[in-house]
Parts: sequence; structure tokens; C-alpha cells
Amino acid sequence: MPSETLTIVDNRTGRDYEVPIADGTIRATDLRQISAEEGDGGLMSYDPAYLNTSSCRSAITYIDGDAGILRYRGYPIEQIAEEASFLETAYLLLEGELPTAEQLAAWEGDVRTHTYVHTNFTKFLEGFRYDAHPMGMLLGAIGALSTFYPDAKHIADPESRYLQRVRLIAKMPTIAAFVFRHSRGLPYVFPRNDLGYIGNYVNMTFEIGGRHEPNPVLQRALEILLILHADHEQNCSTSAVRSVGSSHVDPFSAVSAGIAALYGPLHGGANEAVLVMLDEIGDVKNVPAFIESVKAGKGRLMGFGHRVYESYDPRAKLIKKVADQVFEQTGLNPKLEIALELERIALEDEYFVSRKLYPNVDFYSGLIYQAMGYPTDYFTVLFALGRLPGWIAQWEEMLNDSEQKISRPRQTYIGQGVREFVPMSKR
Ligand code: CMC
Repeated sequence: MPSETLTIVDNRTGRDYEVPIADGTIRATDLRQISAEEGDGGLMSYDPAYLNTSSCRSAITYIDGDAGILRYRGYPIEQIAEEASFLETAYLLLEGELPTAEQLAAWEGDVRTHTYVHTNFTKFLEGFRYDAHPMGMLLGAIGALSTFYPDAKHIADPESRYLQRVRLIAKMPTIAAFVFRHSRGLPYVFPRNDLGYIGNYVNMTFEIGGRHEPNPVLQRALEILLILHADHEQNCSTSAVRSVGSSHVDPFSAVSAGIAALYGPLHGGANEAVLVMLDEIGDVKNVPAFIESVKAGKGRLMGFGHRVYESYDPRAKLIKKVADQVFEQTGLNPKLEIALELERIALEDEYFVSRKLYPNVDFYSGLIYQAMGYPTDYFTVLFALGRLPGWIAQWEEMLNDSEQKISRPRQTYIGQGVREFVPMSKR
């Protein structure tokens, strides 16, 4: 029986060490015993951007990046996207199991009870400039929720954690819709608790003069997009939520850190960046020149590439199907032609093939959001709405993991050695 250990020989000292292997990992702290001289603190692993470091043990989302597999709590994303509602998916991520009919009804009822926000919230949003970026408003607003619910600080109390979870899931669509209305100078539409989760959100964004004709195909398409975004294990924003949450701050503050991380163009902001890129390209005939400029290092093909997928992102495959259903209702988005041509060329081009760069979740989602009537700078808000259950589930898992402590990476100091301070007159 081969032993589940790793033998390390330190050629500096000739000493050897045996460290245990569990679940395909060694513990970085086991390297600390490997020391070349007294007081050197022991060996560390150096891993900028966590390219090969497992930061936690998680039972929520499984990804096999080579095979293009994504599962929530063991269930394939394809089946969830086909069968489940968004709140059902959220329940699965948060509780670990699919809800029974009664459990789902109770969960939906709890969420429905908490959709309203304090009226001061509307005044808070009025403080933003008319052209404030929706993601800037969303991250400020979700952070501000902590001031309305000081009891959210009781993170060791499971009942309090449940209440904050419900508040977040229930109020985020309301706030996201208010942000949308603020950008347009439209009066806020308050939640209608006779509508479902998605229907209520869509109504709050698009209702004018007390009227909105819901389109069930578009609403289900939006629901599927939110489901596809609901969790993606230890991505940048989720790591931000875990890291900030590890200081034991309240969940509203931790989630607002996740929203800040998602805002960036290399993460959730990529869906917005894709549309900006398609606008810049302008016409199918300009695609080859654009691809050449990317290959020459003048910018990236936004919506392509992924840290963990080295094959077609399974979410992108599903989104392409959703796009067909949506465009049947709304008419073709003229930029789709440019996107399809970009994809066709990139999938044949040696530069992209050799680097295993495929379309990711953000490549087609923006085109769908645009066809639904959302402006480009609002797309990442929709991503945040979808990702929320994942952030909360990962935050909860982190708090319940006895091995987790306040997040505090080490560093390799490469700066100056000690030197005497030079007074201003002598510099
Ligand atoms: N266009 C052109 N070249 C690329 C791209 C791209 N989109 N992505 C990676 N590369 C090249 C990169 O230049 C590098 O080439 P070389 O080896 O010659 O230096 C190689 O591929 C590896 O890239 P990397 O930057 O080391 O890869 P990473 O894992 O650090 O980055 C990524 C992953 C998603 C940040 C990156 O692929 C990227 O910037 N993509 C565009 C932005 C985007 O679509 N982001 C959304 C990600 S999916 C949803 C989400 O997480 O929010």
C-alpha cells in the first residue's frame, strides 16, 4: 500500500521530511518545520494569485475545469438550469439539499416578507450623482444595509445569520431595481409580494405608470442566467467575501466587498466590457483586424479565457441556448453577428487554441441583457444578483469551519534592509 505522504529532501541541509497528503493537498504549514538555519521561520510556499493553493475545504460547488463540469452540491448545472427556480437553487446552495415543497414554500415566504427596504434608503440613493455607476451604487447600498441592521453583527448566532441571509436575498432585487430607476431618473417602484422573485424584480425595474406586461420567456431566461451565476467556488469575489468575512464583520459588509471585487473588468465587469468591445469593433469586417490586435498584445478578447476552465465554460454553452430563446422574442441583437464571428475565428486560431481560451459566462450574457432592455453599465448588477446565494453560502461555510481563522496571507519581503532615517534637509 503506497503511503499518503510526501517525502521532501532539503538539499540545503540534507535533511528529509515526510508530510501527509490529504485530498490531494499538503498543508502549507507542514512546510514550516523545514528550516535551513535557526530563526529563518521555516519554508513557505509562494503562490501569487493563489494559482495552486486550496484556501478552504468546501462542499458547495464542484468544478472540473478540463472536462467543463460544474455542479452545485453534486447536481449538474445543466439539470439545475433546466428544472429549478432561482430561490430553489439558492436553498440548495445554502442548505446543502434540494428543498421539499413545504421547505421551498417556507423559504419563499420568508424572502417575500423581507423585500421592503427602510424608506431612508431612497434618500440614501438620491445622494448619488445621476450618472453614478450602478455597481458603485450597489456596493455602497449593500454595505449601508449593515447600518440599518446592527443585529447583523451577531454572526455567531445561527438564527441571526438566517435572518440576514433572508434580508440579503429579499432586499437585493429591490435595491438593484432602485439603482436601475435612479440611473433613469424614474420614481422607485416598490415590491409587489403577489409576484414571484423574478417577476417582482422585473416589475420593479420596468413598470411605468403602474403597468408592465411580463414576458414569461424573458423572465425564465433571466432566472436561468441568475442560476448559472449562483456560485462558482473560490473566484475573486467569493474569496473577497470569505476573506473580509473572516474578520467577523457583518454579512452586509462582507457581501459589499464581494460586489466590489465583482465590479472589476477581469471578473463580473467582463460582461460590460464585452459589449464595449463589440461596439468598438462595430462591424463583422473588422473582426480579423481586432483578433490580430489582441494577439499583438493590444488588449484582451473580453469574455474569453478562465482561470479554471481550459475547455468551453459549461455556463457559456447553456447561455447560448438561452440567447436563442430570448432573440426569438426580442429580435436579433445586431452585435450577435460580431460575437459569433469572434468566437468562430478565435476557436480556430492557434493563439487562442494553444492557450485554451474559450468563451466564458460573460461572452454572451451581455447580449441577452441588452436585448432584455438593461443598459450596459447595469449588467454586472445582474451578475451580483445571481451570485448572492453563493457568497452567503460560502460565508456561512467559512464561519462554520473550525479550521478557518482571520485571513492573513504571508509575504516574501524583498525590500531594503535596515537603514538610517535621512532628515529632509539631507535628502
Ligand atoms: N484574450 C487574449 N489573451 C488572453 C485572454 C483573453 N481574454 N485571457 C488570457 N489570455 C492570454 C494571456 O495573455 C496569457 O498569454 P501568455 O501566456 O502569452 O502571456 C495566457 O492567455 C494566460 O492568461 P492569464 O492572464 O495568465 O490567465 P489568468 O488565469 O490569470 O486569467 C482571466 C483569467 C479570466 C482573468 C483572463 O482569461 C482574462 O482576462 N479574460 C478576459 C476577461 C474576462 O472575460 N473575464 C471573465 C471571467 S469569467 C466570469 C468571472 O469570473 O467573472
